[in-house]
Amino acid sequence: MNSVAALPSFSARIAAYRSRFDGALDAALPPLGTDPAQLHEAMRYTCNGGKRLRALLVYAAGEALGLPADQLDAPAVAVELIHAYSLVHDDLPAMDDDDLRRGQPTVHKVWDDAMGVLVGDALQTLAFETLTHSIPADGEAARRLLGVIKALAHASGSLGMVGGQAVDIESEGQRIPLERLKSLHARKTGALILSCLQMPLALAAPAADVVEALTTYGRQLGLAYQIQDDVLDITQSTEQLGKTAGKDVAQEKSTYPALLGFDAAKALAEQTFADARAAVAGLGEKAEGLQWLALEIEGRNH
Ligand code: IPE
Ligand code: IPE
Ligand code: MG
Ligand code: MG
Ligand code: MG
Repeated sequence: MNSVAALPSFSARIAAYRSRFDGALDAALPPLGTDPAQLHEAMRYTCNGGKRLRALLVYAAGEALGLPADQLDAPAVAVELIHAYSLVHDDLPAMDDDDLRRGQPTVHKVWDDAMGVLVGDALQTLAFETLTHSIPADGEAARRLLGVIKALAHASGSLGMVGGQAVDIESEGQRIPLERLKSLHARKTGALILSCLQMPLALAAPAADVVEALTTYGRQLGLAYQIQDDVLDITQSTEQLGKTAGKDVAQEKSTYPALLGFDAAKALAEQTFADARAAVAGLGEKAEGLQWLALEIEGRNH
């Protein structure tokens, strides 16, 4: 079974998840007009658009673990804030130097480089502040929330996303070994996607086999996501992507298509998505949202 249509029920809940996410994000961001007004305007601008796949993964993982949705709003918002910050910094002239993101001019184009740095800094700290606002009074629940904060912090830092970005930049113009490329992708993109599973896992503290299943799913999906991003950079138009197409070749980035060839990279992405789905197959109906999202993500065209 390889059809999204065969698994309709998570798709039926997506609108509700998106709407509660939008409300929680709006509540987390300082209101427009709050001093410094330009910074807060730019933070909101950056958070516009995007597929919100990381937020949806948090909700789908929560379903698999039997967690109530109101415990998932803060982790969903927090991971999307970190992701948005990573995009603003990724697009800065000092990094990928991109003018277009999510179909609109990048922050440093609308404002300036300093604003790009500051927006990223502010979104990052807001992510953790948002998590602290959701601390429950109950001691055990509060202890579990510390696990959520730890997972997101680790995924975001020098051993996760930021570390991957550092290796990405230092690998430009080089032919690096496949294992190094895998680790680059697992860190720069995979770590945050894995955190979408790890945060609900920290809240639910399930049995070891469930931890293993969701963790493997997150690892495989995260790797597949970046291999596919490399592929889409080649196959899609700028208009379709909402960001400049063909950048990886132009900047001599270390990517899967560059190292393995286009067809092998595509085949590996397909296999890695299948590995993600297989990891949660044993969880049955509870993991239907995770199955659905993996198929949806695999079929995306931007
Ligand atoms: C783009 O991520 C950058 C990567 C880590 C591959 P997405 O493709 O998920 O971007 P948005 O959130 O939908 O804009
Ligand atoms: C970005 O990888 C990963 C991040 C941590 C933002 P890319 O540089 O390939 O992302 P895009 O293609 O600009 O979205
Ligand atoms: Mg980059
Ligand atoms: Mg980039
Ligand atoms: Mg890319």
